[in-house]
Order: sequence, then structure tokens, then C-alpha cells
Amino acid sequence: MKSAPPETDFLVIGAGIAGLRAAIELAQAGRVVVLAKREVTDSATQLAQGGIAAALSDEDEVSLHLQDTLSAGDGLCNVEAVKILVEEGPERIEELIQWGTEFDHNGTKLAFTREGAHSRNRILHAHGDSTGREILRALYAKAKILKNISVCEFQFSTALRVENGRVCGVFLISDSGIQDEITASAVLLATGGLGQLYRNTTNPSVATGDGVAMAFDAGAEISDMEFVQFHPTALYLKNAPRFLLSEALRGEGAYLRNLEMHRFMPKYHPMAELAPRDVVARAIVHELEVSKAKDPMVYLDLTHLNGEHLKKRFPRIYSTCMQYNIDITSELIPIRPAAHYAMGGVHTDLEGRTSLPALYAAGEVGATGVHGANRLASNSLLEGLVFGARAGQAMREELKHATTKPQKPKQAASSNGPVDAGLEELIGQIQEMMWTDVGIVRSRTGLRRPIHHLENLSSRLAHPRTRRAYEARNIHVASLLVARSALAREESRGAHYRIDYPTHNDAKFLKHSVIRGDSIRFV
Ligand code: SIN
Repeated sequence: MKSAPPETDFLVIGAGIAGLRAAIELAQAGRVVVLAKREVTDSATQLAQGGIAAALSDEDEVSLHLQDTLSAGDGLCNVEAVKILVEEGPERIEELIQWGTEFDHNGTKLAFTREGAHSRNRILHAHGDSTGREILRALYAKAKILKNISVCEFQFSTALRVENGRVCGVFLISDSGIQDEITASAVLLATGGLGQLYRNTTNPSVATGDGVAMAFDAGAEISDMEFVQFHPTALYLKNAPRFLLSEALRGEGAYLRNLEMHRFMPKYHPMAELAPRDVVARAIVHELEVSKAKDPMVYLDLTHLNGEHLKKRFPRIYSTCMQYNIDITSELIPIRPAAHYAMGGVHTDLEGRTSLPALYAAGEVGATGVHGANRLASNSLLEGLVFGARAGQAMREELKHATTKPQKPKQAASSNGPVDAGLEELIGQIQEMMWTDVGIVRSRTGLRRPIHHLENLSSRLAHPRTRRAYEARNIHVASLLVARSALAREESRGAHYRIDYPTHNDAKFLKHSVIRGDSIRFV
């Protein structure tokens, strides 16, 4: 395992698609250190199944991808950011192919599939349902041959270092509790998402909202935190993780059935199973509520589809379900929704600049406004690629503008704090509260409860000594940001659904929420 050097030109926190793509860009200008919280493969990128969307097929057009993204975003997309995404996306993907990414083909042509709310088949996939893993493999291989890039695993960033108003590094804690610092001319947050705020999530265990919490604590603007996307179809089995069952399954024709075996989606939306994710997730919640079962669930049904095709097209899903004794070609899969993706995060411009000098953000942790109130399926890998590259290009300039020389870091110190016996229970309580009151359906009364509770927990979590305690603090900070933003947005839009304000209020809320410190405003 490589240890982090005390000083570098550029620091990238996170080794998923956005972080690695940015690092490749930065390597032309100076030394780059990429910090992975655990192994490089512990990221949402690695888990991404469905694919990566781009208007590359003969029957598609960039303008249609633009339109579909704007419609899914429910009025709140930053149109300039979406144009960049759909226009630069194809070029970034061609580049990935040159670097060795093996997307699936039909004969000699790239194979495209469909997912919810797309008007064309435009989702590229790799090894069937291991698209993220294949992209990460190729990006990592590319990064490894660039001498300027060092990737350091098991390095958990605890706080940003700010000198004279400028971000100039981070504080770290290793798995064994050793504390350290690393300085740099510019820092990129590419820390991914925050699914671990919720009891049910498709996200990896590392997704504890670290980037948002660190940026918020350092005084950065955080935006659109109320918009958390819930994926409709996660495996629902006792003692099994909420394994993602890709939307591409529905793209290939899978049905959703309730406990009475009725295919229910056609009564909720004309696009049935391929309606936008928020619509499908709420429909499932409604079916669960009206069910008389003690532990209700709904089913994903693929049994009418060609079994041999399914095994070939979705090998990872097939084998994972088989581990739990479910043969997807002949049996129904029990599912429920799970927290999946944060549309909000650290507020940035179109080059990843945050409100703090020398701090950048890209990928899920960043918020350009590209996804508006709801992300179109398979636009997230594309976002990481496009905005990771843009952030890397912009950060190169920081070497010229850096006015403060990073100070010599202090000696590493061991701080293996005492094991906090109640910590896991506390994290579980927060996740439960977030799931129940700040989840798919929200209300004023429901939102006030967790806010009050979370505020009371602040002093308990304020002085972490261990790595897990830092994660707990980050989960706590990010949860409060989501709950406060959700309370302030008194309307329903995209993934944010308020039962007490069930419609849009364009006059007041066709705006982005921005939180800085104690203030929240809509701009
Ligand atoms: C999926 O495969 O359903 C996930 C893709 C995404 O979240 O964009």
C-alpha cells in the first residue's frame, strides 16, 4: 500500500470515474496524488451496472439526449451544464474506447440499450451489467502509466486545510488511526455520494457524504441537497445487501408486479415500468402501503423474457441473485426502492470551481445543476467523465495563481481513539430516521422530527477520534443538510416529494437551494 506524500501539486480525493479522469488531465501539469478511502475498487463507479448514456447511435441526436435530461430534471436543470454534458459526452467516450474500455457490441457496432425516461436506445454497457467496473479498469490502467499520478489507498480525508481563505490540502486518518496532513496547490473533491445516510441504499459502504461534510465545515456553498434519487429496484431479502437491479432490466422488458401479481405500473404512468425513477419509486411505495402484508414488497418479473439472453446480458445480476437462491430466469425477484444518488452537493460552476478558492468538486459530490431535481438514468458516469475532465483542466491554472506556498506539514501523529461502543447504534438511528422521515415521501411534521433530533446529536459527534467516528460525523452533517433543504422546499419537484405540497410552485421554487453555514436561500 502506497502512503501519501506530505506535499503535491494537485490533490484528488476519490478514485472513481470523476477523480481518475481529472487526475489524467492534471498529470500534464504537475504531480497528482489521488486518495482512495479504501481500495480503488470501493466506489460507486465500480458498482454501476446499467451503463453510460450518450447520443452515439445512428438513430439518436444530441438534442434528444438534451431534451430527455431536461424533462427528467423537472424544470431545474442548469441548461448550460446539460449542453456541455450531452455535447462533450460522445468525445469523452471515444477517448475511453481509445484507452481500452471494452463496451459491448452487436456485431461490429456498439450495442445500446434503453432505460427509464430515455426516448432512444442510448445506454452503452460493458460485460453486460459491469459497465462501471470496466470503465474504472481502463481509467486506472491509463492513470498507472502516467508517472505524475500516485494513487494512495486507505487514506481517509477528515477535513480540508484552509490557509488565508484558500484551500491548500487535507488532514487524513489511516485505517489504523494515524493522523497526517498533505498539502497541495488545489484540491478536487471526487468523493462520490451519500447513500449511507439511509437505511436502504444501493451505494457502497464508503458513501458517507464525506465531501459535502468537509466542504460545508470549511464554509463552502452546498446546493440542492433535498434532491436524493431513490432507485426503484433494489433486492429486498433479509440479510442480503440492497443489491441494485439495473433499470436496464426494465429496459429489456421486465415488469413490476405487486403481491397480488398485478402488473401495476401502467395505471401510474403512460411509460409504465420505464417512467421516471421518482414516479416508479412512489408507485412502489403506494403499492407497499395498500398491501395488507406484514412485510410487504413488490416483484421484478423477468420470467417472460428469454432466459439465455438474460444470463448473457446480465451476468452479474444473474449470479448475485443465484447466490441468494433466486433464478431470475424463472423466479420473481423481491424488491423495494433504495437511496441511490444525490443530485445536490458542493455547489460548483461549469469547471468544477466551488465557492472556496482552490477547492474543486466533480462527479456525484459536485452540484453543477446538471441533473436538476432528478437525474436521467445513466447520466452519472457521463457526468463524472465530462465534469471530471473539465475540473482537471481548470485546476491546472491554479498552479499559476497559487499565492500561498503550502506550509510544511506537521508530523504524523497516532490518534487511535477509544472504540465508541454506541457509535454503530447511533449511525443506525440516523439512517432509520432519514429513511422514514426524509425519504421518498416527506412532510413538514415528518421533517421537523429528524432535524430536531440531529441538532441534539451535534455535540455528541463533534469531536471524532476514529475513522468510523469521522464517518458518523459526516453522515450527521450531510443528513442535516438534506433534511433542512427538504423542509425549506415547500413544493414537490423531481425526486423531492412533499405530501403537504404535492405540486410544483414555480413562482417560489423554480430555483436551486443553497446552504452556507446557518443560512439557506433559493437562487
Ligand atoms: C441502473 O443500472 O439502473 C443504474 C444506472 C443509473 O443509476 O444511472
